[in-house]
Amino acid sequence: MEYTLELHKISKKYGSNECRVEALKNISLKVKKNEVVSLIGPSGSGKTSLLQIAGLLDNATSGKIIINNHHIKNKDDCFRTRIRKNNIGFIYQFHHLLPELSVLENVLLPLYIKGFSKKESLVKARQILKDVELENRVDFMPGQLSGGQQQRVAIARALVTKPSIILADEPTGNLDSSLSEKIFDLIYQQVKKYELSCIIVTHNQKLAKKADRIETLKDGVISSKLYN
Ligand SMILES: Nc1ncnc2c1ncn2[C@@H]1O[C@H](COP(=O)(O)OP(=O)(O)OP(=O)(O)O)[C@@H](O)[C@H]1O
Ligand SMILES: [Mg+2]
Repeated sequence: MEYTLELHKISKKYGSNECRVEALKNISLKVKKNEVVSLIGPSGSGKTSLLQIAGLLDNATSGKIIINNHHIKNKDDCFRTRIRKNNIGFIYQFHHLLPELSVLENVLLPLYIKGFSKKESLVKARQILKDVELENRVDFMPGQLSGGQQQRVAIARALVTKPSIILADEPTGNLDSSLSEKIFDLIYQQVKKYELSCIIVTHNQKLAKKADRIETLKDGVISSKLYN
């Protein structure tokens, strides 16, 4: 079985003394190539904490992470940054596009950071913008786009380097229900098209069921349910 992401007995504690919060309790979770996992659970149940740890943006208090066969435990920031850069793409509720750059430039940026040539980057950026049906908006500024279009640019930006793991924290949280469904479907289709893996946090039960599997967090404890 080929797992791209493995979390083993992850715990996360924040703060100290009376402010101590045990946000994640002994969480184990594996995601396969080509698999989309929905992560649901009430506010404060630990979803964002789990994604931040899986994406190497934060450290677990205990437990082990394996990303594409790389064991992450006890590694320095430089190693973690390299693994993150080469393996992980993030999509957030608020897209964080750079307002002074055009749509195309926003999508080109991660390619330049990864060291692709200008010519190669342009081909990749234009292809992914076509995938998200924004080929006729490449020279627009983010402020000239609708909310759904902006989110599609953010998806293109997260996917353009084809990171094997996509971590999406409420990517549809800011959108109305029909747009939410379109954005969810788009992420799902792109993950399948490029054979990636994805964890997608949502509060929307109907959307969650469209994934291959649902994981539910409650008070920092996880349980799973198979769907498709
Ligand atoms: N930096 C922090 N310092 C202290 N406690 C934190 C910190 N970040 C999160 N927590 C606590 O950890 C718990 C889980 O928070 P988290 O943000 O992971 O929840 P969530 O499931 O993403 O919630 P939501 O659906 O509201 O986004 C919460 O009780 C929260 O107060
Ligand atoms: Mg959250």
